[in-house]
Amino acid sequence: MSISVNEKEKFFSVKTANTEYQMKVDEFGVLKHIWYGEITNKNMEYLLDYPNVGFSGSIYEAGTRQTYSLDTLPQEYSCEGTGDYRISSLSVLNKDGDSSVDLRFKGWEVKKGKYSIPGLPASYDNSNEAETLEITLEDKVSKIEVVLKYGVFENTDIITRSAVITNKGDNSVYLKNASSVCLDIPFGNWQWVHFQGRHAMERQLERASLIHGVQESSSNRGASSHQQNPAIVLCSADCTEISGSCIGAMLMYSGSFKARVQLDQIDQVRMVMGINPEMFKWNLKAGESFYTPEAFLSFSSQGFEKLSHCFHKFIRNNVCRGKYKLESRPVLINNWEATYFDFNEEILYNIAKQASELGVDMFVLDDGWFGQRNGETAGLGDWFVNEEKLSGSLKKFVDKVKAMGMKFGLWFEPEMVSEDSDLYRNHPDWAIKIPDRAPVRSRCQLVLDMSRKDVQDYIYEAVSNVLKSADISYVKWDMNRSISDWFSHGLNSENMGEMPHRYVLGVYSLLERLTSSFPDVLFEGCCGGGGRFDAGMLYYCPQIWCSDDTDAYERTKIQYGTSFFYPISAVGSHVSTVPNHQTGRITPIETRAVTAMAGSFGYELDLNTLSSEEKESVKNQIKRFKEYQPLIHNGEYYRLSNPMEDEYAAWEFVSEDKSEALIHGMVFFTKPNFVRYLIKPRGLDENAEYVINNGSETYTGKALMSGGVLVPKTSGDYSPIEMHIAKLLS
Ligand code: GLA
Repeated sequence: MSISVNEKEKFFSVKTANTEYQMKVDEFGVLKHIWYGEITNKNMEYLLDYPNVGFSGSIYEAGTRQTYSLDTLPQEYSCEGTGDYRISSLSVLNKDGDSSVDLRFKGWEVKKGKYSIPGLPASYDNSNEAETLEITLEDKVSKIEVVLKYGVFENTDIITRSAVITNKGDNSVYLKNASSVCLDIPFGNWQWVHFQGRHAMERQLERASLIHGVQESSSNRGASSHQQNPAIVLCSADCTEISGSCIGAMLMYSGSFKARVQLDQIDQVRMVMGINPEMFKWNLKAGESFYTPEAFLSFSSQGFEKLSHCFHKFIRNNVCRGKYKLESRPVLINNWEATYFDFNEEILYNIAKQASELGVDMFVLDDGWFGQRNGETAGLGDWFVNEEKLSGSLKKFVDKVKAMGMKFGLWFEPEMVSEDSDLYRNHPDWAIKIPDRAPVRSRCQLVLDMSRKDVQDYIYEAVSNVLKSADISYVKWDMNRSISDWFSHGLNSENMGEMPHRYVLGVYSLLERLTSSFPDVLFEGCCGGGGRFDAGMLYYCPQIWCSDDTDAYERTKIQYGTSFFYPISAVGSHVSTVPNHQTGRITPIETRAVTAMAGSFGYELDLNTLSSEEKESVKNQIKRFKEYQPLIHNGEYYRLSNPMEDEYAAWEFVSEDKSEALIHGMVFFTKPNFVRYLIKPRGLDENAEYVINNGSETYTGKALMSGGVLVPKTSGDYSPIEMHIAKLLS
């Protein structure tokens, strides 16, 4: 039983295989957070002994007990306006204009299975392992009721959090902040890790000590963003890949979010994560409920590696859905970097033909196939094939690709509109802009108002019609700008503050309809590369184009950061041409291949331009990827170096039964007369005998893990590393 409740003490213990989370209702009905860490089998409340901290007031019922203060006590869901001056999780503007919420315990319930959330993606249970704990809190004056939900996934050490806020009063109120999770940590020397970046440089890991006050990782761009990712780690100062404590927190949300971490006046840590309150004002009418997105928590006492393994398994099994979630993904060729907008049927045909000859499974036609889309300024919204460019119907071209033995995939950017498009000319009010104000353009385009049902319906019909018109096996769902000018003709001044969240709900609703209408189609998410790389999108799209930067060297860093939370199968990754279009860097084709193999693999160049030697390499890479794909996607992933600091990048996939491992990576620069780098694989069977790359010498797992292996001698820059380690059959 993973959830146990001591009714008399009002003490709640939530256990997973290796972790325990404790809460308790105190004598005033306040739900206190007691513990999140290793399993202790002891009520850890004995640690919470507070002095009278001056200027931290006490709730009225505490009388003269000045040591009792909501400003210092660890809590499960912090509120604004009632004497807790730290960051709040819930903030409500009441009908009289005050914004106090005072939540006290009302009841609890344990349910078998995992809760779902109306209108929002949520993790799900598929092996009857999950349980749900619901704790209800209420504010007796404003009649706001909050149900805190805890979903427990024992095997992956994941506890999910979400809140349902119901207005049980007679008047409308405004929610100004409705966070998904609050986590208080009373002791320890904590640091935090977040993933920052920009377009073509996403998820660069940054680790920093906490300073007193609030630090945050957030997006106010309408999408989860390239700039910061809705996933952070709190870690002990001594935490490494393989040792030390860390807590991962991830929000399953694709819109503007905020994760805040506060080191308070008495060195306690509070983390609050949810929809970005700056972008949020929700009119909660009498009797209505608001559902927050879900957050995932995991604790590891064995460093980042264990934390990543738990998130990888959880996202693959309990977040991603559909036919392809655990299936082999097709090796694809995408024409974008080969042609950009400048193509015709013959050019595409030749790219597809060469790819099919080398073993590629699917041809993906990227931007530029529809309307008058010959550049960035026109066509978005007109999802009708440009028969002139394709010299005929889409079906005719798709059939030609299929005759080569390949599947066919297509790019869409459904949420956008070009001013120079029939859609905009017919429905200018469907674009997000404020009346009497000129809207911000980005990549020369505007954003469609996805909060509107009529807009969603139009896109559903338009995309469905194309998907029905030919045998299409894959959709790349792109979104190429941040959103501004929030205004909707479907809302009024009382509920305009709901629009950023309603936009996200609209995108989810549309994706739900399309993915269920076309269950055999593989959807790949995209947002100028990885600008909406989050668990919300992974619920609909089991893979996401990781970055518009296809340079292998830069990708080692992007993929390193991405790997902290997201499974390898989720990472769209392609071999492109050299000099690389984003950086001008030249890297060997084998290096580009091993880097792209740490993902859902493909090519993005005109393979006709390669030498016959390079074509042979491509043939062999595809063969190898297909052979290794089960190991790469189903195995456990190990970060063997830190490419942000080390002179080489190396990572490893190990099969569940430890019979096989694959080390990939690159040595950044070759130096003269230099001592060779040593890599220590992990996750092998200590006592088993292994061979490397089918060699004749055998090594014990212990020797390899404790002594390591030498990286082969390199020559030139960005040399690839590939070592296949196989257990000898006894
Ligand atoms: C975005 C994507 C690219 C490509 C272009 C097309 O930038 O990330 O992969 O699809 O749009 O316009």
